[in-house]
Amino acid sequence: MTNTVEKTVIVTGATSGIGLAVVCRLKDAGFLPVLTGRNADKVATLAEQNGVPGYVLDVASEHDISQVTAQIEKEHGPVYGLVNNAGIWLEGEFVDYSASDIRKVMDINTMGTMLMSHAVLPAMVKRGKGAIINVVSTGALYTRKMISVYAASKWAIRGFTGCLEVEYAPKGVQVMGFYPGKVASNMYETAGIDRNLDVAMTPEQAAKMIVTMLDDDGMVWSHVSGRSIRDYV
Ligand SMILES: NC(=O)c1ccc[n+]([C@@H]2O[C@H](COP(=O)([O-])OP(=O)(O)OC[C@H]3O[C@@H](n4cnc5c(N)ncnc54)[C@H](OP(=O)(O)O)[C@@H]3O)[C@@H](O)[C@H]2O)c1
Repeated sequence: MTNTVEKTVIVTGATSGIGLAVVCRLKDAGFLPVLTGRNADKVATLAEQNGVPGYVLDVASEHDISQVTAQIEKEHGPVYGLVNNAGIWLEGEFVDYSASDIRKVMDINTMGTMLMSHAVLPAMVKRGKGAIINVVSTGALYTRKMISVYAASKWAIRGFTGCLEVEYAPKGVQVMGFYPGKVASNMYETAGIDRNLDVAMTPEQAAKMIVTMLDDDGMVWSHVSGRSIRDYV
């Protein structure tokens, strides 16, 4: 097990769902979680409610990524961990998507994850330790109708994660992917999709696995996936 005391971990998209649950669980486990999100009001309220530092960080903004990660490092010491969790859902027939829908998903889910990793990795490599967990999706393990762009955004991160895993483990940095099935969060509703989430795992169940993966600095957990037992029909 790792010594979690004073280990700063940035969580992106932490204003709801899995990200917020990860912040709470990291705090309980003795890490120093840094709650980040794109909505300033939500960040301020939730950071205060949970007694953790909060920063406005839109992962689609290169400016936010470079400025805010530098500020966090300055104010909370070296960044030990990064949970690339921010993400959005897009569902429908491919030809009905606009070019801007497509770009938005790729900018947040794919570029956001890559550029956040790019911002924190050099210092991790220099220190010879650190951990990055990418919240991917079972949507990156198979293909199906109506999720082409969301799936592409996550398949890209599956490839990215696997390549970084072998590139940086020899340098002491764990790069890991978590591939959850359906989670009872705001993601579908935010995308305007009505989805029955009665059988989905809870954000807390997803967070439990993510923190377990982060909690052992001697292990690289690769392609960790799971879904609620009630989600098997
Ligand atoms: N829900 C599922 O069934 C499921 C399954 C597999 C994987 N995942 C993945 O799990 C991750 C977390 O999703 P969730 O289920 O917890 O959904 P969620 O409750 O909608 O949480 C997504 C979070 O990302 C934030 N976000 C969106 N765009 C952002 C941006 N540009 N910059 C920073 N933050 C941004 C949202 O902020 P706002 O509060 O401002 O909207 C929200 O806090 C996503 O990567 C998703 O793809 C979800």
